[in-house]
Amino acid sequence: MSAEIIDGKELAHELRISMKGEVLELKRDGLTPHLTVVLVGEDPASRSYVRGKQKATDETGISSDLIELSVDTSESELLQLIDKLNEDPSVHGILVQLPLPEQIGEQKVIESINPAKDVDGFHPFNIGRMMSGGDTFLPCTPYGILTMLKSKNIPIEGKHVVIIGRSNIVGKPVGQLLLNENATVTYCHSRTKDLKNHTTKADILIVAVGKPNVIKADYVKQGCTVIDVGVNRLDDGSLTGDVDFESVKHTASYITPVPRGVGPMTITMLLKNTIKAAKGLSD
Ligand code: GUN
Repeated sequence: MSAEIIDGKELAHELRISMKGEVLELKRDGLTPHLTVVLVGEDPASRSYVRGKQKATDETGISSDLIELSVDTSESELLQLIDKLNEDPSVHGILVQLPLPEQIGEQKVIESINPAKDVDGFHPFNIGRMMSGGDTFLPCTPYGILTMLKSKNIPIEGKHVVIIGRSNIVGKPVGQLLLNENATVTYCHSRTKDLKNHTTKADILIVAVGKPNVIKADYVKQGCTVIDVGVNRLDDGSLTGDVDFESVKHTASYITPVPRGVGPMTITMLLKNTIKAAKGLSD
């Protein structure tokens, strides 16, 4: 048996069609959602992600602009810019592409963004609201993963979710979101002993380590749902995930591919958060 593929690109396409309609209605009422993206430095991967985000906003009718700053921008220059964007009523969402150059404190920058414009969902205010279940911007990759699971009606309540990776962007918040859905959650990371002992107990396995093909079929229980968050570029230029797709697809019941998996869903949730920002976060 081969696993059913959760096609993130197709789901993203469907969701974006309905968002396009929603944006059109907002525009008729005189409100054009606007996202400002800030890119500091020349990192090619960041540049490519930013380009993808802008293409998606354009296609959905959301307006966006890109502010590019040189790699030697100081922390105070960036904070001043964010202050200005916080005050500008025509800017609904602010996204500062990470990582930032080392002279700039990432956490300080995240905390300087007005939480009502924090479409990444990284501000501690929004993380706190996510944990306590209030209205908030959910971080885009975890939100995309939750949407993918729900799109296939994959049961979450009472299921054992194992997450490999504990980043602030993916691992930690996705566990919290699935805990909110009544899953039992185990976090694994680089210091975890006997990884396989944990992963083979997972009903849903989420892999976000950033190393190609680390999860093989013998790490996965028969019938498990496998979500691959990794995006790794191989020497031949092709993209691959953290999961050995070809072997794991025979053991899993559902699996996300790379590309066409989680990536397109992350951007789609950014669009959703930008529309939400334009409409205003409730108190
Ligand atoms: N760098 C890698 N992923 C992300 C993301 O989701 N948001 C931002 N701002 N930077 C990133």
